[in-house]
Amino acid sequence: MSTPPARLLHFLLPLSLAIILTDAATPPSEADALLAWMSSLGDPPELSTWTNATSLCSKWRGVTCDSSGRVSSLSFRNLGLAGGLDKLDSSAFPALAELDLNGNNLSGSIPASLSRLRSLSKLDLGSNSFDGSIPPQLGDLTGLVELRLYNNNLVGAIPHQLSRLPRIVHFDLGSNYLTNPDSRFSAMPTVQFLSLYLNYLNGSFPVFVLGCRNVTYLDLSQNTFSGPVTDALPARLPGLRHLNLSSNAFSGRIPASLASLTMLQDLRIGANSFTGGVPEFLGSMPELRILELGGCPLGGPLPPVLGRLQKLQRLYVSWAGLVSTLPPEMGNLTSLYFMDLSMNSLSGSLPATFARMRKMREFGISSNRLTGQIPGVLFASWPELISFQVQNNSPTGEIPPEVGKATKLNFLYLFSNNLTGPSRRRSARWSTFSSWIYR
Ligand SMILES: *[C@@H]1O[C@H](CO)[C@@H](O)[C@H](O)[C@H]1NC(C)=O
Ligand SMILES: *[C@@H]1O[C@H](CO)[C@@H](O)[C@H](O)[C@H]1NC(C)=O
Ligand SMILES: *[C@@H]1O[C@H](CO)[C@@H](O)[C@H](O)[C@H]1NC(C)=O
Ligand SMILES: *[C@@H]1O[C@H](CO)[C@@H](O)[C@H](O)[C@H]1NC(C)=O
Ligand SMILES: *[C@@H]1O[C@H](CO)[C@@H](O)[C@H](O)[C@H]1NC(C)=O
Ligand SMILES: *[C@@H]1O[C@H](CO)[C@@H](O)[C@H](O)[C@H]1NC(C)=O
Ligand SMILES: *[C@@H]1O[C@H](CO)[C@@H](O)[C@H](O)[C@H]1NC(C)=O
Repeated sequence: MSTPPARLLHFLLPLSLAIILTDAATPPSEADALLAWMSSLGDPPELSTWTNATSLCSKWRGVTCDSSGRVSSLSFRNLGLAGGLDKLDSSAFPALAELDLNGNNLSGSIPASLSRLRSLSKLDLGSNSFDGSIPPQLGDLTGLVELRLYNNNLVGAIPHQLSRLPRIVHFDLGSNYLTNPDSRFSAMPTVQFLSLYLNYLNGSFPVFVLGCRNVTYLDLSQNTFSGPVTDALPARLPGLRHLNLSSNAFSGRIPASLASLTMLQDLRIGANSFTGGVPEFLGSMPELRILELGGCPLGGPLPPVLGRLQKLQRLYVSWAGLVSTLPPEMGNLTSLYFMDLSMNSLSGSLPATFARMRKMREFGISSNRLTGQIPGVLFASWPELISFQVQNNSPTGEIPPEVGKATKLNFLYLFSNNLTGPSRRRSARWSTFSSWIYR
């Protein structure tokens, strides 16, 4: 007896295969794929130039084509687009090198099908509302050079597949809810910019980072990493220029080996549990522009050698248990415009040499044990001064009349001191401060 169902099967099978094959072989045109996506976003007015009547290569907002007329870049930054990516048919864009949707209000999960964008070198989905986990398939985008997924609501472990992107240079997953990758996450030898700030990463200093030997920018701030920072860091990452480990639970001494990072420009390691004082070697790091050590129980003195940092612009050593006088040598910090040494046990008087810090804009040394007179020359020498906060100390004498020479001064905090005010006659500008408190 012949079996009709089997015959039917023979007949149906090739047909359904054919359907699948044609389906795979003929993706929608690029224009149709974009129109379908636009419609899923509710036809936003920002994309009103997208119509069947015009050429997508010349007239469509945010669309760029290559010389053979295929879409090579889709860039819609900060357009307020809302909706998802699931209706974007990735198979329609074999030549797409750049997808930039930064700063919109796109939500839902990141579709695994983005891995079909096989020419992609830049993917920027930063500053949207994407949630769910990062699809491991993004690791198949072998041409990817820049991956920006920062500032979304992504959860789960960072997929280890991402560490195998062979060309990746810029890797930014900051400000999400991501947890540690598993141990298969390997070193990324091509990465130069590595940012994982503000996530749920924890445990000891991540080993894979030490294998990213081309890194110049490393931001692990605002996680809960703990334990010491390995002495091997500078030897493994010799090109570091920007290092941010702030707001974690790192402990132990600040490694002396950091001294070999001669190109380091920013060292931000505040709000950790580092102890052992402010190391003298910091004064020998010629490129330092930003030094943030505050919020660590360092203790000890403020070393005079810090005055050698000719390029230093920001110094933040607040709440660090410092016990010393203020070294006059710090007056040599002629590039410094921001200094916060508040909440320590610094004593003695404010050195008049500080007048050489001619770029000073924000000067804060409140809640210490300063005595003596406030040198009037500071106000006469700091033309850019905006904020001067010396409250909660014990200086004596008069508020210097030169205060009136700091014409940009907006915040003058001298309360909880024993100063007496200058006569109004001597300083005509008193009434222009927006905030002026001296008792
Ligand atoms: C655009 O035009 C093509 C053919 O020219 C047509 O198949 C398609 O349905 C049109 N799309 C829209 C959204 O009008
Ligand atoms: C973003 O979208 C959400 C809904 O998904 C909406 O509640 C919110 O107002 C939108 N934000 C902006 C800035 O458009
Ligand atoms: C490291 O970066 C340099 C350029 O700064 C580049 O020439 C070199 O190929 C990179 N090495 C790797 C392994 O990517
Ligand atoms: C690290 O975070 C994971 C996931 O949030 C958690 O399960 C684990 O207990 C944490 N480990 C430590 C050492 O805190
Ligand atoms: C960490 O430091 C880097 C380099 O100084 C800086 O660009 C970055 O904004 C900092 N990260 C955060 C979260 O502030
Ligand atoms: C730094 O300042 C001190 C005291 O103010 C001074 O003696 C010294 O010569 C200065 N050093 C440099 C390198 O300018
Ligand atoms: C101010 O002077 C009074 C009396 O001389 C003294 O008791 C007080 O401790 C002084 N306050 C400060 C902040 O120096």
